[in-house]
Amino acid sequence: MPRVTKASKTARKPQPGAAPRSKSLASGYTVSLSYDRRLFKEDIAGSIAHARMLGRTGIIPAADARRIIRGLQQVEAEIADGKFKWRDDLEDIHMNVEARLFDLIGDAAGRLHTARSRNDQVATDTRMYARDRASEAISALGALQLTLVDVAERNQNAILPGYTHLQRAQPVLLAHHLLAYYEMFARDVTRFQAAAHAANVMPLGSGALAGLPYPIDRAGVAEELGFTRVSRNSMDAVSDRDFLLDWLHAAAVAMMHISRLGEELVLWSSDEFKFVRLADEYTTGSSIMPQKRNPDFAELARGKTGRVYGNLMAALTILKGLPMTYNRDLQEDKERLFDTVDTVLPSIFVVQGMLAGATFETRRMRAAAGASYVLATDVADYLVRKGMPFRQAHGVVADLSAAAAAKGKFLHELTLAEYRRASKLFDAAVFKVTVEASIAARGTEGGTAPERVRVALRDARARLNEPGGQA
Ligand code: ARG
Repeated sequence: MPRVTKASKTARKPQPGAAPRSKSLASGYTVSLSYDRRLFKEDIAGSIAHARMLGRTGIIPAADARRIIRGLQQVEAEIADGKFKWRDDLEDIHMNVEARLFDLIGDAAGRLHTARSRNDQVATDTRMYARDRASEAISALGALQLTLVDVAERNQNAILPGYTHLQRAQPVLLAHHLLAYYEMFARDVTRFQAAAHAANVMPLGSGALAGLPYPIDRAGVAEELGFTRVSRNSMDAVSDRDFLLDWLHAAAVAMMHISRLGEELVLWSSDEFKFVRLADEYTTGSSIMPQKRNPDFAELARGKTGRVYGNLMAALTILKGLPMTYNRDLQEDKERLFDTVDTVLPSIFVVQGMLAGATFETRRMRAAAGASYVLATDVADYLVRKGMPFRQAHGVVADLSAAAAAKGKFLHELTLAEYRRASKLFDAAVFKVTVEASIAARGTEGGTAPERVRVALRDARARLNEPGGQA
């Protein structure tokens, strides 16, 4: 570990003829400062709580604790103001902060690391970071859900073909389609809540691995840092990164949902669909084709899912096969988390903005629902109501649809005589099978009938403000 005192700086100078040590060839390889400096707030908060506890319990003199805390506050201000001189030779955020503390307050700084190791320190920092970023993801997802509800309400009567296999299947309300995404993001919220809960365990007080020979007050430190629990096993505490996997998994699933929504916006904004017009700020032109309005933001929201999956796989792979307890491999966890945070939060914001600013071409959607065989199931259901077994009705309507298609007609364009040729159970009431009637008929719980969707929209809005409402 790099030393922070003056004497050791000289000791670290490469000796002539010696194998390269951290300064030359190896320098840089172990350095994590470029990325872990973003943990400075967590690191300093952890150190302040630790120092306060050391002073309170008499493990170090109270005056030194006060000096340490004041010094740390100054270090934090320097970092926040961009005045801090970062030193790569000190490898990481922890050593940088401590070294600066030495500059500022002298030898008292040497007491800060009493009853602590970088192993429990870094685990504590990372947990606080993961916990607090999970809260941000939860708020961002909530805002996206609210936008979905707003857009759904603005287009409450809009009808479009619902798809299976990307084939027009049955008509649905656009609001119903959008609320499907609301549910996906609701589950993501619960996953991030679980990830925050998993992160909310304080490892500090575990020492390097075995616990500490000092009368520390873990509960007090935990309270100051907002941790709801303290770790139960010191060896597990310094090597456990399950909370990070939970975060990355929650993010991976959320990105999968974002990617699906991105994909639909790509499809819907194409000339083939023309169901949506994205706001100019979410499209780009082509350098060669002047007519282009490319949905780059939606594509990137889809594409960036790859790196988030990659981060989850990388983290799982980093952790596998680690012997107990702390191993330096664990340093590789942070970039996976940071990159994921930097990807998932902006992706949520972008998709939200894209939806909020999109214009839904509801006439085109309705026309697409009409120009199709989406009523085939309803025609079969009509026969079922007349007493025909569903399987048989399915066969009749399949033949009927094929015959209609051969004549270049949709089902609702057939004459009663044509219907009756397929089955004598048909009468003029078959013309009451319309797109609107099909939707209205689906009033089962979770169905697309307008009155169901109206209630679902009201519930969706209310659930955003209820504790546990997303579950
Ligand atoms: N930079 C290290 C990390 O991120 C801090 C902990 C180092 N501990 C150690 N025993 N070398 O994991």
